[in-house]
Amino acid sequence: MPKTIIAANWKMNFNINDARKFILGIREFVEDDKCEVIICAPYVYLQAVKECAKGTSIKIGAQNMYYEDKGAYTGEISPLMLKDLEVEYLIVGHSERRAFFNESDTIINKKLKTALKYNIKPILCIGESLEDREISNTNSFLEQQLRKDLKNVSSKEVQNIVIAYEPIWAIGTGKTATSAMANETIGFVRNVIEKMYGKEVSENISIVYGGSVKADTIKEQMEKEHINGALVGGASLIMDEFLNIVNY
Ligand code: PGA
Repeated sequence: MPKTIIAANWKMNFNINDARKFILGIREFVEDDKCEVIICAPYVYLQAVKECAKGTSIKIGAQNMYYEDKGAYTGEISPLMLKDLEVEYLIVGHSERRAFFNESDTIINKKLKTALKYNIKPILCIGESLEDREISNTNSFLEQQLRKDLKNVSSKEVQNIVIAYEPIWAIGTGKTATSAMANETIGFVRNVIEKMYGKEVSENISIVYGGSVKADTIKEQMEKEHINGALVGGASLIMDEFLNIVNY
């Protein structure tokens, strides 16, 4: 059975007080048994989030990482630094990093493999553009993206990965993929994982949906066969909204 995961992607939002207030505000209302709640905060707030979440089951995640351990890489953050802060998850391959920071599948694969080496669980984001969706190229695009991002990742390692299917056209746009559409595409992604790693792995890997997830879309999404949770951007910045998603 795949684990149910609700991950917040705060992106480049909040200040330190907002970050603290948010975690202190949600901590007693998160129902432990329903799903794993992960807060992917900006680097500079990870420590504060960790302290505020202490004693709860809330996990912390980073939004990025460099793939070298240390060295002359001005401005970068290494896996060892994330380990120092006991970061458990890492968003890799988000479409905003692919688009604005030119992250190629090769770089994403390196980051993913480095995270796995250090026992940081990658949340691997994949997703098609509107153009690909409109010319019915979604499945073939996703399969290629997945195969490149997971290159040389073993079947043992892949069990520590969460896949987030995030159609680019649904991110931050208010356009959610219908739950039927998300389910169908995630089902396809699961088939690709089966082809690559076998049935058992494909049946146990968590694949979540991301793209304008809201409190009023989550219930229907979670009822679908293949959807194991959500990666939430905008709605993860509003305390009540996020709590309603987490406790769907
Ligand atoms: P959104 O972002 O929920 O604001 O669409 C999702 C994401 O980018 O992970």
